[in-house]
Amino acid sequence: MEQMQTLPKLFDFGTMLQKTVSTNGLAGQDIISVNQFDRDKLAYIFTRSHEMRELVERVGGCDLLKGYVLACLFYEPSTRTSASFIAAMERLGGDVIPITQGVQFSSVSKGESLPDTIRTLEQYSDVIVLRHPEIGSAKLAADYASVPVINAGDGAGEHPTQALLDLFTIREELGRIDGLKIAMVGDLRYGRTVHSLTRLLMQYDDVSLRFVSPEILRLPMALMNELIDRGFKVRETHNVADVIENADVLYVTRIQKERFSDPKQYEEVKDCYEITMELMTRAKEKMVVMHPLPRVGEIHYHVDDDPRAAYFRQVRNGMYVRMALLAAVLGKA
Ligand code: NCD
Repeated sequence: MEQMQTLPKLFDFGTMLQKTVSTNGLAGQDIISVNQFDRDKLAYIFTRSHEMRELVERVGGCDLLKGYVLACLFYEPSTRTSASFIAAMERLGGDVIPITQGVQFSSVSKGESLPDTIRTLEQYSDVIVLRHPEIGSAKLAADYASVPVINAGDGAGEHPTQALLDLFTIREELGRIDGLKIAMVGDLRYGRTVHSLTRLLMQYDDVSLRFVSPEILRLPMALMNELIDRGFKVRETHNVADVIENADVLYVTRIQKERFSDPKQYEEVKDCYEITMELMTRAKEKMVVMHPLPRVGEIHYHVDDDPRAAYFRQVRNGMYVRMALLAAVLGKA
């Protein structure tokens, strides 16, 4: 497989002794945008994520991050992102302050500002994972924090750790990224996972991108122009049937109800796509269906039994990638 780096191994499973290894420049860094990752760093994260998988499959976890504390601060709902960061930290022996059950139970509900909350949490923790409804919030938090801040979604902006696990999943499923035909379906306007993944894919060669959305949910113009300026083959359509036969990856997303200012507009587009077994019969035998989840009707439950449905494997990969990232920013991998 390509895009792997040969690195000194992080673990010796014989003795369980930890090795001293390079962190590829990620130690102490905030993770705010996918633009921070070049192919070298991506290859590094993929290699480490593989090692994390091996670790979990063989022995469940280790004490690499023993003595370290992660503060998990979520101002928006989450199941996978919060749980996988918590699982990642705990499998590496670290501890977690989880503020994920609704900030209504924290001082945020008393009107505390984001900078004050961040400057408080950094007193207790070594790294902060933040999800917040406003674009730019992760950057703002990072400007105040003296510990690394990891962006777990800033409104309709970016979701860099999701994009890393998405890319890792494509590589695991298909063995490469260069040369693939990738179709993104759904809410391309507000879907932050789409924005981050599209940016990461710009680093790869000969990738063809197909964007399938209703007119009002097209990919933001700035991102589209960036793709065109960089010479990418791009096509936009309203219809999944136009792309399903040629796609190597079908990346399906939820219509982001919470981002609409006009509920009537949401009602008009909410059920616009459903991937069914009937559609799947027209897809390649080696195509993969991905979804950052949660799904709310975009993929029929019958599709789950198709071996090309990769979304739950994608969920598991998220834990390995977040283990790799936490170890790297804490200077331990
Ligand atoms: C996504 C998100 O929060 O942006 N979910 C996730 O992190 N796995 C996608 C979504 O909410 O639709």
